[in-house]
Amino acid sequence: MAPYAVAHFKLGLQLAGRDLPDSQRHAWAYDFASDERLGVYLTNSLEAPHEYPGLPLFTQFVADETAAANRVKQDLPIMVVIGNPPYSGHSANKGEWISGLVRDYYQVDGNPLGEHNPKYLLDDYVKFMRFGQWHIDRSGGGILAFISNNGYLDNPTFRGMRQSLVNSFTDIYILNLHGSSKKREVAPDGSPDENVFDIQQGVAIGLFVKEPGKRGPGVVRYADLWGLRESKAGGASKYEWLLTHDISSTGWDATSPQTPFYLFVRQDDSARDEYHALWVSKMPL
Ligand SMILES: C[S@@+](CC[C@H](N)C(=O)[O-])C[C@H]1O[C@@H](n2cnc3c(N)ncnc32)[C@H](O)[C@@H]1O
Repeated sequence: MAPYAVAHFKLGLQLAGRDLPDSQRHAWAYDFASDERLGVYLTNSLEAPHEYPGLPLFTQFVADETAAANRVKQDLPIMVVIGNPPYSGHSANKGEWISGLVRDYYQVDGNPLGEHNPKYLLDDYVKFMRFGQWHIDRSGGGILAFISNNGYLDNPTFRGMRQSLVNSFTDIYILNLHGSSKKREVAPDGSPDENVFDIQQGVAIGLFVKEPGKRGPGVVRYADLWGLRESKAGGASKYEWLLTHDISSTGWDATSPQTPFYLFVRQDDSARDEYHALWVSKMPL
């Protein structure tokens, strides 16, 4: 409710021309007597249009909002999905619609993942990615742009998700902002690495582009950003770098993710065969 109310409040002020001088306001301000409402809706994005929220205080207002949001979910082609989705390993969003869609991530190369504990795929940010991917797929083109947990870039459990994303989108840009205190990350030169948010999980910006008329598998362009969140002495920092760069001024490293892991990051795999050989030789016959 709070983000919904704040969005209406701020957009309302903007539309009223509160940022303009009095002399210009009349020419530009929105006519609030009109019937048209702001296209900002109170809804659970992860619920299908026919799934109604089971709220204890089910008021007429919520019912009207749900109906209005359902029209958007059902009838409009969504071409841009932008966000900072919630991170919650203990997701409250267990509806059939989104759970069914996420099941696509439980297979890779047409086979089940076979993971004993795929619980990380139940995280809310994974559901929101699947939600965005589904909308852009349905529209036939568009952009999904999220800042989120970066676990999906290289965790083996997410290989089906990566393959699915590569097949949906034509160009994927990943800016890995790192900062995982769980992995005790430091920059490659040994200097400190901080998270851009006050959270423990590493973070990445993912821009997923689907060009209409083109088919996947898409190319992944990857870049790292290490260092302090804010610079103490006005030097380089993550915030400063993000404010002064865009897609065209970022040094991307292009890869085509391959079976079996479909990694979005470059990994030194020179020891992989040795690692797997050891494991196999220890298995009881
Ligand atoms: C990490 S916060 C992002 C905050 C936002 N970037 C801002 O600056 O206000 C995640 C947002 O997602 C919203 N959210 C969580 N679950 C949702 C759901 N199922 N449907 C719609 N919004 C949801 C939360 O209310 C919260 O505002």
